Amino acid sequence: MPSSDQSLPENTPGVLRPGQQRQFHQDGFLLLENWIPADLKQQLIDRAYQLIEQADLTEHNRFSTTDRAQINNDFFLESAETIRCFFEEKAFDEQGHLTQPRAQSINKIGHALHDLDDVYQAFAQRPEFGALARDLGLLEPHLYQTMVIFKQPRIGGEVTWHQDATFFYTEPTSVITYWFALEDATLENGCLWLEPGGHTGPLRERYHRDDRDLRMEPLDAMPWPDDTSGTPMPVKAGSLLVFHGHLPHYSAPNRSDKSRLALTFHVVDGQYPYAPENWLQRPTLGTFPL
Ligand code: FE2
Repeated sequence: MPSSDQSLPENTPGVLRPGQQRQFHQDGFLLLENWIPADLKQQLIDRAYQLIEQADLTEHNRFSTTDRAQINNDFFLESAETIRCFFEEKAFDEQGHLTQPRAQSINKIGHALHDLDDVYQAFAQRPEFGALARDLGLLEPHLYQTMVIFKQPRIGGEVTWHQDATFFYTEPTSVITYWFALEDATLENGCLWLEPGGHTGPLRERYHRDDRDLRMEPLDAMPWPDDTSGTPMPVKAGSLLVFHGHLPHYSAPNRSDKSRLALTFHVVDGQYPYAPENWLQRPTLGTFPL
């Protein structure tokens, strides 16, 4: 159990009520409030900013879901087994200078924090996270990827509609996303949008790696949700949203003056073969059982 100053009356870690399991399978997601004790949440935030301060940011590597061609393939691929900072697409002016301080210019930190950083590793090893995955049907939950996603004030980029199984392909689909709100997520600062029940639809795309090349393969022409079929999910800091690998989700640009810091885990069932075409491979670190 977390050493918490908040009570956890309904979402006792690792022991979902039957109704909650049913709700996850019906809606494709579940909102679990108060899952990060306040002291731990602050540790994770402080550590994220320390990592930015310590990072060698001489290489200007940006991250964009609207224009993946901007991503430097080698820098991105190598980040699977290390910790790297990616700039917001709009972090630089036309002369190539940052328009905001570096701490307010980073899009995300990824992707092996749980292997290589003591603070994030200790958090990932908390027993409730493995127990939650097992409650949701994963027999052998393995954590493959950790990201700290900033959604910076004023320049935080849009994340277009997608399904996370696009990036973590197994047959059958097994990936579950843990989306931890480290700060309040609101309509103004770019909270997640989800399509309730949309996880029953097909996987629309698959992201392939072919040696050092990356490409998006269309699989199904089913249209993405929009403002009417999608639902915004404003959540309080400390909340955990878990969702199915086929659940379409989106987040808008952040034009407000507040950041929207989130932490994500991608958890895959080790009982199914992990596709060698997935971009994220872990030949050195191996898997990280929860
Ligand atoms: Fe996603």
